[in-house]
Amino acid sequence: MRITPLALAVVLATLAGPATHVSAQTASQPEFPSGWTPKTTQYANRDMVAAANPLAVEAGVTILRRGGSALDAAIAVQMMLTLVEPQSSGIGGGAFLLHYDGKGRKLVGYDGRETAPAAATPDQFMKLGKPLAFMDAVTGGLSVGTPGVISMMAMAHAKHGKLPWAALFQPAIELAEKGFPLSPRLHTMLGFMAQRLCTEKAVAAHYLKPDCTPKDQGSLLKNPELAATLRTIAKGGAQAFYRGPIAEAIVNAVRSHPTNPGRLTLEDLAGYTPKVREPICGPYRGLRICGMPPESSGTVAVLQTLGILEHFDVAKLAPSSLDAVHLISEAYRLAYADRQKFIGDPDFVSVPVTGLLDAGYLKQRSSLINMERSMGVPVAGAPAGAEPRGLDDSPSLPSTSHVSIVDRDGNMVAMTTTIENGFGSLQMVKGFILNNQLTDFSLSPTDAEGRPVANRVEPGKRPRSSMAPSFVFNASGDVEAVVGSPGGGNIIQYVVKTLVGLVDWKLDIQAAIDLPNFGAQTSATTEVEKGTVLSGLQAGLAARGHTVAVVDINSGLQGIVFNGKRGKAPGKGKWAGGADPRREGTAKGTR
Ligand code: DON
Repeated sequence: MRITPLALAVVLATLAGPATHVSAQTASQPEFPSGWTPKTTQYANRDMVAAANPLAVEAGVTILRRGGSALDAAIAVQMMLTLVEPQSSGIGGGAFLLHYDGKGRKLVGYDGRETAPAAATPDQFMKLGKPLAFMDAVTGGLSVGTPGVISMMAMAHAKHGKLPWAALFQPAIELAEKGFPLSPRLHTMLGFMAQRLCTEKAVAAHYLKPDCTPKDQGSLLKNPELAATLRTIAKGGAQAFYRGPIAEAIVNAVRSHPTNPGRLTLEDLAGYTPKVREPICGPYRGLRICGMPPESSGTVAVLQTLGILEHFDVAKLAPSSLDAVHLISEAYRLAYADRQKFIGDPDFVSVPVTGLLDAGYLKQRSSLINMERSMGVPVAGAPAGAEPRGLDDSPSLPSTSHVSIVDRDGNMVAMTTTIENGFGSLQMVKGFILNNQLTDFSLSPTDAEGRPVANRVEPGKRPRSSMAPSFVFNASGDVEAVVGSPGGGNIIQYVVKTLVGLVDWKLDIQAAIDLPNFGAQTSATTEVEKGTVLSGLQAGLAARGHTVAVVDINSGLQGIVFNGKRGKAPGKGKWAGGADPRREGTAKGTR
């Protein structure tokens, strides 16, 4: 996958071109300015780590240089993210991890998603017949699912680890004790949430000043409690998290929340089991794109969108042009309509994955796109195997993190990891933040006609996700790219945009990540990224019937692409890595 001068010119023109700065915001979404720090493609010959924070990347690179595997590095990165990017992911949350074995050429999916407690009920987020306001459902104990990260990592480490488990915790333990400078993004996120964080004592004590404003950007932040927790898990293994003092502290924080207590028990924690899931794959222009199956809706929707786009000559359309934005947004609408209706945890509800990805079905769906007129509010299709379902109503706001890694043996990891909303449930125990993943369930268990929602809360169930860690394979079965992003429901759009950039527009990884974000879900609104809108685009979309919103669209995509063998043009290295300019990430490897 190489950048052509023409493609580069188009993108540069796109990024530099006249931008409109009309401020409009979709209902209920606060504005999170993402900022923009230009990044350049990084090259390496031996190995590479791309993650959302430079200190986490450093931890991964250190482990690779000590002889660790990609999976070892992923554990070190996750422990460091718990410390330095606490708003996004951590050991109090869940993750999906795809592991590619370079020798055996096999891709495996690990599901470390949180589970609902045994005492969860379908109506737990309803009050007087109405769903709770999102942040009221989020804050406190009720939204906390049994964390899955540690157990999933232990399971994957037993299979793919090279260095001892305890060694992988060392970088994060050391930095937690020594302290690190509070980053600009963490500072900004604290600013947005300060009012809510203020009333939650543990988290406020750690990140806010006594007057409830965020601690200063650049101030030294230590976390000795987290260091002690990580030491305990390093020594005692995953069981030291799921039983004993750490588990007791989690259960106590959840159940004793003063206004919104939750239902987690010690038995829920002791009974947590990660799952190995067979990745799902689909074709795109002669390549094969693979990712996690449901309960994530991410890859199903990515594959549906690409399967629809395959019926159009996207390569001919200029990136960010009116036709490209119209077409791709319409394809999203069709995929999101199905996602909203059909995807839930397959261990609890039947999910018609085969029908949703059927080539004939996607062809028929693609025929619903009119290049002159938006379909507005999309309607779900009738894929083979579908059951009557109500529509899901779960929202999501910025947090989450994506990590892409390749090691010297060609083993690769794509992991998207999350505590769900920014700062999760706002509950902090033993130096880490607890997730609010249960609000990824539909807050309403049925629709107005009483039809059950596939993604309703049920005991032991895993909430539907949008996370889409993704691998791209060529026709010979070699890895071409590994990508993924945070962004809640929009993750699907960020992954598709990057893949279309790489595959159709032949961009290099950084240029593909840099492409302006845009998209649509299940309404008539098409969002375009503030600061990137080419003149005429907004009016052109409106003329085709889109309701246009110019908003901050905060992706956080990290990717690594195979760049050809050492010495070949552009000749800068075997692996090319990119990180999203909208967040703090970097890519780094050994040349
Ligand atoms: O699993 C999911 O899809 C969500 N909990 C992810 C949340 C997220 O990415 C927030 N946004 N940046």
